[in-house]
Amino acid sequence: MTAVSINRLATFRWSPRAFSSRPVEREKLVALFEAARWSASAGNEQPWRFIIGQQPGESWMKILETLDEGNRIWNVTVPVLLLVVGSRISTYDGNENAYFRYDTGQAMAHLSLEAMRQGLHVHQMGGFSAEKAVKTFKIPVEYVPLVVIAVGYRDDPAILPEKLRQREIQERKRKELRELVFEDSFGTPSPLLTGF
Ligand SMILES: Cc1cc2nc3c(=O)[nH]c(=O)nc-3n(C[C@H](O)[C@H](O)[C@H](O)COP(=O)(O)O)c2cc1C
Repeated sequence: MTAVSINRLATFRWSPRAFSSRPVEREKLVALFEAARWSASAGNEQPWRFIIGQQPGESWMKILETLDEGNRIWNVTVPVLLLVVGSRISTYDGNENAYFRYDTGQAMAHLSLEAMRQGLHVHQMGGFSAEKAVKTFKIPVEYVPLVVIAVGYRDDPAILPEKLRQREIQERKRKELRELVFEDSFGTPSPLLTGF
């Protein structure tokens, strides 16, 4: 339950583990990448890159194999897996781009909301082997694998093993707004949020 009314898509976004193996339509997948493409980035560097795997393709299997055991267990039904890669080098001067992680994360936020608009869900995962991903997909040294994303339609939590099923239905929690927004000095809650 949000503290005040916000964008509907953001309200309904969450990260399920029970995914249906129903394939995702091509236009919907293109829309996800298009949403990411129009995200803001420092110097308009657009550091995000994606490697897509669609079930039962080889690329899908290769991404699945990069996942940690705890993630792999529920990803076997996921129809689309994306390996998200960031470019760490600035195209202007060849130096490190300090913002590539920030920018790629922001693009993922856009992608996530577009997924909601398309009736899909996404689940981002840091639990994967970046080293394995680099080797498997021959990723050049100036790119860094950042996250794997499951994309698809939701299914009944009953398809999950019991422990994961419990996590699927547990109440979602967030910090209070006053713990996040400060004024005058770091850590001093802003009066703006009094009462929230
Ligand atoms: C960068 C990142 C890494 C994550 N890694 C994992 C992961 O390896 N496995 C997993 O099940 N969930 C993972 N999550 C999902 C988070 O646990 C989830 O977003 C968080 O608990 C908030 O829940 P919600 O997305 O449903 O609001 C990750 C999320 C992000 C953004």
